[in-house]
Amino acid sequence: MTQALFDWRWFAHRGGGDAAPENTLAAFETGLKAGFRAFECDVKLSADGVLWLLHDDTLDRTTDARGLAAPWRWESLQMVDAGSWHSARFKGEPPAALDQVLDFAARHEAWLNLEIKPSPDEDARTGDAVARRVAQWVAEQPQAPMPLLSSFSLAALQAARKTLDDLKVELPLAYLVEVYEPQALTQALALRAEGLHTDWQQVTPEVIAAVHGKGLKLRAYTVNEAETAKSLLAEGLDGLFTDRLDLPGRL
Ligand code: G3P
Ligand code: MG
Repeated sequence: MTQALFDWRWFAHRGGGDAAPENTLAAFETGLKAGFRAFECDVKLSADGVLWLLHDDTLDRTTDARGLAAPWRWESLQMVDAGSWHSARFKGEPPAALDQVLDFAARHEAWLNLEIKPSPDEDARTGDAVARRVAQWVAEQPQAPMPLLSSFSLAALQAARKTLDDLKVELPLAYLVEVYEPQALTQALALRAEGLHTDWQQVTPEVIAAVHGKGLKLRAYTVNEAETAKSLLAEGLDGLFTDRLDLPGRL
């Protein structure tokens, strides 16, 4: 048993960190086996409106297909190999649909951080679609931890916020920024966000105090060193994303 088992501050980055092919169901299963209960993943829309998991704009790095992801329909995406690039053990692992990940979360009472990762010029459409689907799922699964929706895309988050307001559903939102600036806090507050997510190298005691001072949570990506994790958590960081599934046990 690792320390991470019920420690909701630790998120397995992209489902299973570097131990499994990112953003696949195998990744989530791997993260779960390692003791994680909180999982981050990247969500975008297929050409025919299915929400699915992929980090990049293209299929090149993490599948055996090539080119931009946006024109692909889900029936074709399901056929690609999203596992072999990682290791032979995961050969043939398909990409995951958001609905499969939601099923996983319901089965294991997992907490999801769904990072809205729109294909180019799909920001508002993707933000709306994620918020709509998750709002529906939360109504069906009231016992499951409420997913946290985040994005680097302000347009995606604004669309998600509008959809949630229209539906009169409360879901936590977090604004992601590569570089922390006070303006990011203003934008997060305008979104009525629950938190701010940023690169761990941006995190200082002063930044933590500023974010907490506005009543927001601060979480950081991607923390892969035990000493860094230890000091950030001691300073009061509310959560972190890691590629190293063994890290919580090393603190
Ligand atoms: O959501 C935290 C982190 O995943 C953001 O960066 O590029 O790994 O999606 P990235
Ligand atoms: Mg991400």
